[in-house]
Amino acid sequence: MPQIIFLPHPELCPDGAALEAPVGETVLDVALINGISIPHACEKWCACTTCHLVIREGFDSLDESDELEDDMLDKAWGLEMESCLGCQAKVADTDLVVEIPKYTLNLASEEH
Ligand code: FES
Repeated sequence: MPQIIFLPHPELCPDGAALEAPVGETVLDVALINGISIPHACEKWCACTTCHLVIREGFDSLDESDELEDDMLDKAWGLEMESCLGCQAKVADTDLVVEIPKYTLNLASEEH
């Protein structure tokens, strides 16, 4: 089974984590199941950017993002080439190294 390494984040996982990740599971769900409470304000409907993650290794193994995800990501804080929305990124057969950005914007609530 592939592994996801979460790099340390001061609040969400101060020591980092190495997690078993079933193929087809989203990166967000793997984190949540293992107690890393990455925000997910829109409940995984690709309608906020609170689950924004940066994939430091293994990015190419993820499915390409669709237009909706790209539109959302354009608004994310600290967007990088290897950014994704954790609720849309599905684990393939490759290990991933994931950084949780320091800040998130909650577009789901800030636009209302
Ligand atoms: Fe809102 Fe992923 S949880 S876009």
